[in-house]
Amino acid sequence: MSTTPTSAGDLALPITDPGLERRLKVQLARVEELLARHASSRSTFVTEAARHLLEAGGKRFRPLLVLLAAEAGPNPDAEEVRTAACVVELTHLASLYHDDVMDEALVRRGADSANVRWDNHVAILTGDFLFARSSELTAELGRDAVRIQSKTFAQLVEGQILEGIDPEPGVDPVDHHLEVVAGKTGALIATSALYGARFAGASPEIERALTAYGDIVGTAFQLSDDILDIASETGESGKTPGTDLREGVPTLPVLLAKRSTDPADARLLELLESDLATDDAAHAECLALLRAHPAMDEARRYVVGRAHQAKDLLTALPAGPVRDALEAFADVVAVRTS
Ligand code: IPE
Ligand code: IPE
Ligand code: MG
Ligand code: MG
Repeated sequence: MSTTPTSAGDLALPITDPGLERRLKVQLARVEELLARHASSRSTFVTEAARHLLEAGGKRFRPLLVLLAAEAGPNPDAEEVRTAACVVELTHLASLYHDDVMDEALVRRGADSANVRWDNHVAILTGDFLFARSSELTAELGRDAVRIQSKTFAQLVEGQILEGIDPEPGVDPVDHHLEVVAGKTGALIATSALYGARFAGASPEIERALTAYGDIVGTAFQLSDDILDIASETGESGKTPGTDLREGVPTLPVLLAKRSTDPADARLLELLESDLATDDAAHAECLALLRAHPAMDEARRYVVGRAHQAKDLLTALPAGPVRDALEAFADVVAVRTS
């Protein structure tokens, strides 16, 4: 999967079945219209701020998963499916505005982050505005969806908060991290799969399987993204590589490297404890050592293992193009190279 911001209409997934690909593209184009509509305000300035990242690009991974999961039900064309796809992307988009303030990120989706383009206040309030729009739209999906959306949002926020604090005494840092990732990213992707299945009228068994699949794929997606943040040497992701390390945000390769007792890792471990935010030379040295460290492959193997677990859950679906596409989805997440 390319992480390069895509224009609407390009699918962030190779689909081999032409009929399925066409249906997904048509649906996604309709979701795009909804997104533009719901990201607008009475105020020209608020509309500009809210559409800034929407129009900058993005893979539309979550709405795509809603639409793909919906293909496992009898009514993939239901209006609620598109509404749900819009809801999850608005929630995600809002979280990006807030995330870039917290991570002091300069670039997002290949554009200036909102905190750089304007300032932290505008970025935070635009995120709030988009969360509010997402909630308003969720109300159209009924009471259960409102409950699911609120729970998902709480998990996302809990994950973001837990990311910034140390694990409880006795809790392994890797386990703590996996909990963080499941919350901040896995929860919304699990909900995307759930919404798709539910609003297309899939059976409870398929809904359960797809939700569990989304949870694992979502976690793998974030872990892959974090590996790329270290491994990538270009700005192809539309973000600035090395940001996690600079900001001291823990990631799986770093936590695995920190377990090392090999004296050859002494310099890396020392650098990981230092302030990499202000010292560019130390940051570059740390990034180079980490890229060459076996912890990178260990992290990659872990992600591939999770993708296998996710694919195993798809046996609840009949064999065919939809299951194939969901399998491909798990694969591209696990082996993202850009
Ligand atoms: C970015 O999500 C935040 C993570 C969970 C890694 P995406 O990689 O889906 O970002 P866009 O939507 O394509 O910009
Ligand atoms: C983003 O986490 C998670 C959410 C937006 C909830 P990251 O900080 O790891 O993502 P990027 O790398 O900035 O996209
Ligand atoms: Mg970030
Ligand atoms: Mg972050």
